[in-house]
Amino acid sequence: MTQQEDREEMALTRATVRKPPQKLSSPSFFNLPIHPGSAISAKDFSAAEVRRILESADALEKENPMRRANRLAKRRVALLFYESSTRTRTSFELAAKALGADTTLVSSLSSSIEKGESLKDTGITLKALGAECIILRSPYSGAPYLLARATGLPVLNAGDGMAEHPSQALLDLRTILQFLGIRSSAVTEKTLRGVTVTICGDILHSRVARSNALLLPQLGAKVMLCGPRELLPEYAAGMGPGIVVERDFEAALRQSKIVMMLRIQAERLAGLQVDLDDYRSRYQASAERIVKHAPKALIMHPGPIIRGLEITAEVADGLQSGIAQQVHNGVPIRMALLERALRGDKARKGGGR
Ligand code: MLT
Repeated sequence: MTQQEDREEMALTRATVRKPPQKLSSPSFFNLPIHPGSAISAKDFSAAEVRRILESADALEKENPMRRANRLAKRRVALLFYESSTRTRTSFELAAKALGADTTLVSSLSSSIEKGESLKDTGITLKALGAECIILRSPYSGAPYLLARATGLPVLNAGDGMAEHPSQALLDLRTILQFLGIRSSAVTEKTLRGVTVTICGDILHSRVARSNALLLPQLGAKVMLCGPRELLPEYAAGMGPGIVVERDFEAALRQSKIVMMLRIQAERLAGLQVDLDDYRSRYQASAERIVKHAPKALIMHPGPIIRGLEITAEVADGLQSGIAQQVHNGVPIRMALLERALRGDKARKGGGR
């Protein structure tokens, strides 16, 4: 070795020795910014953002299916479902496919989740496999925030515990606007002024109630929460502006253009006892009650319906029912959310639509 080579090797060794030890994981790794294309809480949507989503849903619904299928061609969307679902899962999947995306379903019963894999590791795995967007349903409130921070991917909340179900609130809103004959382009903070929406049932455990109660007042609606004390604590009125509690269902019906019924979430009652006969007698949407107190109202329900408990078959299948329309609206709204999550990337980088 020449003297020069000797000096170079010593310098290299010093540099190597002085280099701080490599960390196996960066402490900031778990704290990535939440992707702006995410849809986690209804409270994140301003009236202007809601209008854009509704207009996009209208345009995508009308678009030629062949053209529409190019929008997200070959983009990879993962559906990560830790709870069962019929409407939400199917409509997200159909929406992604209608835009040309490739989808994969990971459910807690047929994956490594069953072996105890954490949400964080599952998310990182899906990202490493090429997922560009994750649709998450979880029994844990707040799980979508954790997944969004761990992956940096757009996360669409398909229901987290008792917290939120923002895409349901958006499709409910589309159904309400259609019923009232209001165009998406007319949506502002005042659009639903003078409209009372009653949400009746198991408010305490309902993410649908929470997302609607956060979204509808942003457009000026009054939300009247209705139910017995054990399923609707008094403090629920403090959730946000424009929310009131009314224990008398018939009084609520008389004031409402829109009536949203909810099932009792048996899987979340955790030992809480509800007297079902008493519940039916006070809170069931029966034909007699609806004809007498809300003969012109739109009757909604996010499903699953427990016929004969919170709503009778006659009302669920009757002329005032908007339930099938709510289900129908799931696909256009979820197409709009997926496009916002994935195409939004290009728009944000200057690619546009
Ligand atoms: C939900 O996932 O929250 C449903 O859409 C409503 C329900 O389960 O009752």
